[in-house]
Amino acid sequence: MKTYTLSLNEIDTIVRDIAKEFKSGVVILRGDLATGKTTFVKKMALYLGVEEEVTSPTFSLQHAYSKNVFHYDMYNHGLDHFISLGMLEELEKEGLHFIEWGDEKIIEILMEAGIDVMSIDIEKISTDKREYKLCIY
Ligand SMILES: Nc1ncnc2c1ncn2[C@@H]1O[C@H](COP(=O)(O)OP(=O)(O)O)[C@@H](O)[C@H]1O
Ligand SMILES: [Mg+2]
Repeated sequence: MKTYTLSLNEIDTIVRDIAKEFKSGVVILRGDLATGKTTFVKKMALYLGVEEEVTSPTFSLQHAYSKNVFHYDMYNHGLDHFISLGMLEELEKEGLHFIEWGDEKIIEILMEAGIDVMSIDIEKISTDKREYKLCIY
């Protein structure tokens, strides 16, 4: 487990580390509303060279960007629904898959399926700082 405490313009520190250490697999983003899950995906995508606009797929299941970057939001989809729509197959695709509002259960399922997975727990520690706790499974 690795912990970072970062302001908005310091996020590149964590982005660089993850881009280096985790080239393909699923990144589970957890944290309350407005902690910075989408912001993190935006920064990561920018760093990876994605040119499309990155927005949270709240009502769609998946946003697929260029550079093999995929973005999901499970808030409106229970895990069973998500899986019944064939999303596990999507998550096996080469590239980086970011899931906002993922949980322990999906981490377990991914591990059982042999898919590389890491989680980032984000916490608001002040108006201009967030704590990021990284865990690679
Ligand atoms: N590391 C950070 N430090 C300070 N503010 C941040 C940080 N990350 C995100 N924010 C701010 O937090 C707010 C919510 O971010 P957002 O990414 O939309 O949250 P979420 O997707 O978790 O709901 C935005 O105003 C964003 O600029
Ligand atoms: Mg969001």
